[in-house]
Amino acid sequence: MNVRLLLASFAVLFAPALHAQTSPAPTPPMGWNSWNHFAGKVTDADVRATADQLVSTGMRDAGYVYVNIDDTWQGKRDANGAIRGNEKFPDMKALADYVHSKGLKLGIYSSPGEKTCAGYAGSYGHEAQDAQTYAAWGVDFLKYDLCSFGDQMSAERKAHPDDPQAGEKLMIAAYKKMGDALRATGRPILYSLCQYGFADPWKWGPSVGASMWRTTDDINDTWPRMFIIGQEQADIAQYAGPGHWNDPDMLEIGNGGMKPDEYRQHMSLWAMLAAPLLAGNDLTKMSDVDRSILTNREVIAIDQDPLGKQATRQYEHADMSVWTKPLSGGRVAVALVTSSWGERRMQFNLAEVGFPNGASVRDVWDGKDLGRQSGVFTGVVPGHGVLLLILSK
Ligand code: GLA
Repeated sequence: MNVRLLLASFAVLFAPALHAQTSPAPTPPMGWNSWNHFAGKVTDADVRATADQLVSTGMRDAGYVYVNIDDTWQGKRDANGAIRGNEKFPDMKALADYVHSKGLKLGIYSSPGEKTCAGYAGSYGHEAQDAQTYAAWGVDFLKYDLCSFGDQMSAERKAHPDDPQAGEKLMIAAYKKMGDALRATGRPILYSLCQYGFADPWKWGPSVGASMWRTTDDINDTWPRMFIIGQEQADIAQYAGPGHWNDPDMLEIGNGGMKPDEYRQHMSLWAMLAAPLLAGNDLTKMSDVDRSILTNREVIAIDQDPLGKQATRQYEHADMSVWTKPLSGGRVAVALVTSSWGERRMQFNLAEVGFPNGASVRDVWDGKDLGRQSGVFTGVVPGHGVLLLILSK
């Protein structure tokens, strides 16, 4: 075999593995984002305080390393068209340096449209320039939110009435333009698409350079919204894997709208889904219970398992569902989930989840080994809660 042929076959055989290794997201990204709690009020001081808290609460060491500023940081462009922070963010480079000094990474937010969803400057017509500016500041993550680009898609559809995909094509091209611009900076900047799952981004996200893409419209801090989003993820498991993740939106844990069992269900579903874990609460006011939910090492390890498999729903009936996620070492995580207000007894057959000869069972939230089990496993699930198990041979 000549050298060129050898190299070509190497590239074909190992390209996916290499991609996963060089990707900024070999496992689902973890960190914090300002939107769910601070929304349009977030300031430089809030971001610095969050960075401090990520360290002092142990969250950084549990894996939460991205500190992501969402919408409303943008000021006016300068005479050369370069974007600047507004009065709430007077010095982005200094902020990035501060975040880096804590062993954390900085994320930022923009839109392919002229305006972001909150009406601030988007990147339209400035894509390459903005990417260069972010890289010069030391940005490590970009969330790119469709927002006003919808207007341009409508105009494109009107201009091409014969092409039913005209708007979608324009959108994908816009996302690719920024993906290419980020790559051209030479700085690894994790690219996160936010267009609410429109036009199946799980099918084209990797081709525009994205490591993750939103699969739904916005979450809010209520149990019904969180639960519906979680359940909606069941059919797209095959599209998640090392380097490329489905993103069912950021966490609401600690924002006060759900009870602890509901937040444990939220954390468990997101971990089972191999979802990015971006906390969205005010870390300066986090309760011990909320911290224990966000930092549970075994739950995080389910999310971060190197196999990178997203859970599938094995069974759904009335107010109960059973999800399974293959883990490294031949283990399987099983989540028994209920939408019932009250406690539920739930069962599943160990043989049906790959353990015909029985398994050692661990209750993850209780941190207890339940010993060897075989046949039908029965457990009690709290109302709006979860029983999260790890099975091993
Ligand atoms: C959209 C996104 C949210 C957030 C806001 C900011 O709604 O989906 O996650 O970024 O915009 O305006």
